[in-house]
Amino acid sequence: MATNFNNPYIAPFDYVVFGGSGDLATRKLLPSLFRRDRDGQIPPPSRIIGASRGEFSRSDYQSFVEKNLHEFLDGEDVDGQTWTRFRERLHFVTMDAAAEAGWPDLVALLDESPREVRVFYLATAPHLFGPIARRIAASGALCPEARVVLEKPIGHDLASARQINDEVGAVFPEHRIFRIDHYLGKETVQNLLVLRFANALFEPLWQSQHIDHVQITVAESLGIESRGGYYDRTGALRDMVQNHLLQLLCLVAMEPPASLDREAVRDEKIKVLHALAPIMAADVGHKTVRGQYRAGAIAGAPVRGYLEEADIASASTTETFAAIKAEISNWRWAGVPFYLRTGKRMQQKVSEIVIQFRPVPHWVFPGNGTEQTPDRLIIRVQPDEHIRLNLWTKEPGPGGLRLRMAALNLSFAETFKSKFPDAYERLLMDVVRGNATLFMRRDEVEAAWSWIDQILSAWDETGDRPRPYTAGTWGPSAAIALIERDNRTWFEEQTDGL
Ligand code: BG6
Repeated sequence: MATNFNNPYIAPFDYVVFGGSGDLATRKLLPSLFRRDRDGQIPPPSRIIGASRGEFSRSDYQSFVEKNLHEFLDGEDVDGQTWTRFRERLHFVTMDAAAEAGWPDLVALLDESPREVRVFYLATAPHLFGPIARRIAASGALCPEARVVLEKPIGHDLASARQINDEVGAVFPEHRIFRIDHYLGKETVQNLLVLRFANALFEPLWQSQHIDHVQITVAESLGIESRGGYYDRTGALRDMVQNHLLQLLCLVAMEPPASLDREAVRDEKIKVLHALAPIMAADVGHKTVRGQYRAGAIAGAPVRGYLEEADIASASTTETFAAIKAEISNWRWAGVPFYLRTGKRMQQKVSEIVIQFRPVPHWVFPGNGTEQTPDRLIIRVQPDEHIRLNLWTKEPGPGGLRLRMAALNLSFAETFKSKFPDAYERLLMDVVRGNATLFMRRDEVEAAWSWIDQILSAWDETGDRPRPYTAGTWGPSAAIALIERDNRTWFEEQTDGL
């Protein structure tokens, strides 16, 4: 039995993508819109308007998008029928989004035959968010159903995030501002809400009496690719922890919301962020680890170190890895550490959440039980998405009672036999629907920054420097010590002998 809680109606729209010829638009946004079109979800008169300083004619832009679809649709076909339809939706306006040039052309195109919903997607550097929002208003491009989408990072710290929020908020009301964190569009991440709140099984166990600790790992084997300029000013804490990892932590730790209404969900997430125990100068030494990769090998292929990458300052101290022991000061989670880690150039790409339960209070089986691993719930966000419960079971056969860990495994690929949509597909359509449940509210972004800012200043104050780790490993040895000091171990597939 399938239950659909979403309103499937999509109104005809204009999607204006600032940064329309940039990396995000070509790799993610346009392929996602193409897939939605292929599935018949885009109403006929809708248009997609690329806007950037590039000098494209409309047909140049169409060819540019076609070429990129072939490259970024992950081997899927750019089928002729969809492409003919999609091509007709594509327009392009050459403009300097933060200056005068091009705005009259954009407004003329939009007004030529206005669609019901108008989305302004700002896939640009965050310092342009405020100026573009002002131009949208001044040029007369606003309409009653206008929305704006802000890509992360929203600023560089709390002060800059507040400034951006003020500037964009002066033009768009909060419910029309969609701050995107694409992790919230990932299927397994949405599934966390379902796992916790549609099943009666887990919720009674979901608290400090039964859970020993939680691990959240977002490891990438890729390096910084061609984003050196951005990354060297940003680092892993701002690029990944401030948004993706904290959002995952919120979904694991939040109280059950009263409904799936956007405010109900976001009200619960913000309480978690407010309850995060501050990490100050006296704590950074034992609660955080920064790392930076040096040359090594990934899957047998040699890769260079961070300092040898393009556009990186010599002797840069930007971290490409961060591990943190986070604590949530409330009744449910008192005494349950959340160990977070993320890094570039790690051994393999894997994002997962591990909930480790407490051991049974009394062991009645052979041995003293102290060496036995307790049960674990593993939520694999990507790749090979699954939810697995590792449990003790009796090894079949006579000759004594032998125990073995075995897995109850819900593999999504096997169970649903379908390919997962890209996270952006769901989120781009939610913007048109006006459904902001999976987007971040202003206060959430700011609360996350204020926790992160404390760590950044503590690192500054103590002169903490990133520790080197070899590309292709699991990060600096200090990150292993961070968890082992507490008599715990980072989870690896082999740990449970499965
Ligand atoms: C982005 C970061 O938000 O997320 C990138 O800026 C990172 O540095 C990316 O590579 C990871 O996303 P995913 O979906 O590949 O896990």
